[in-house]
Amino acid sequence: MDRLKLEFPTLARKEDAIEYIKEFHADGSRLDGTNRLEQYINDYPSWLKRLDEDLKKEPGEDRVPAETYFLVRESDNKIVGMINIRLTLNHNLWNFGGHIGYSIRPSERRKGYNKINLYLALCICEKHGIEVVLLDCAKDNLGSSKTMRALGGKMIYEYFDSEKNIVIQNYVIDVEKSLAENKERFAEMIAKYPE
Ligand SMILES: CC(C)(COP(=O)(O)OP(=O)(O)OC[C@H]1O[C@@H](n2cnc3c(N)ncnc32)[C@H](O)[C@@H]1OP(=O)(O)O)[C@@H](O)C(=O)NCCC(=O)NCCS
Repeated sequence: MDRLKLEFPTLARKEDAIEYIKEFHADGSRLDGTNRLEQYINDYPSWLKRLDEDLKKEPGEDRVPAETYFLVRESDNKIVGMINIRLTLNHNLWNFGGHIGYSIRPSERRKGYNKINLYLALCICEKHGIEVVLLDCAKDNLGSSKTMRALGGKMIYEYFDSEKNIVIQNYVIDVEKSLAENKERFAEMIAKYPE
């Protein structure tokens, strides 16, 4: 049984982080849920600085306080995913993006890892007093919508985004309820709970 944990990005993960993004490129995968790491592939320390600033950000229209983590597999210490948790929402995020963005590297998909990724993020949301999380995804992104549904996500509405030319679905998850209902189900796959 694979066991996973969230890890705050550090300089020691520079090569692993670059390799993570390169795998998306090689696969031709969409880069959603990687928190713009691609733009910092040649300047990883600046990405770390940005993450540090995100922790202290005052809520505003351009940026909100947020936490980003790597999802790491215990057995081989490999980064298998990422998650970005916005601790509050501004007008833009209410309309697009919501509280959480996530990704799993192409070679590690369809193993149930993103469900663990989201479960661990909900643990963090609970610690920050977030009672209901808002998430969105493209309607055709079944891996994402099924992750949300698996954690108790309820679709509240969908709409056609004419700029992106796609249908977007918005989901909400009751944090306390989801954590309680899924506790036993995921317990064996969690190496460490967020502190
Ligand atoms: C979306 C993504 C995070 C899913 O990660 P994953 O680890 O493969 O997801 P899981 O294995 O935990 O699967 C979650 C559910 O989605 C289903 N699923 C996953 N990928 C799927 C696909 N391509 N098509 C249909 N269903 C899929 C799984 O079967 C599972 O459903 P179940 O609960 O009924 O068993 C991953 O595909 C990814 O990183 N995509 C690129 C970035 C992205 O789209 N991020 C989300 C933006 S909203």
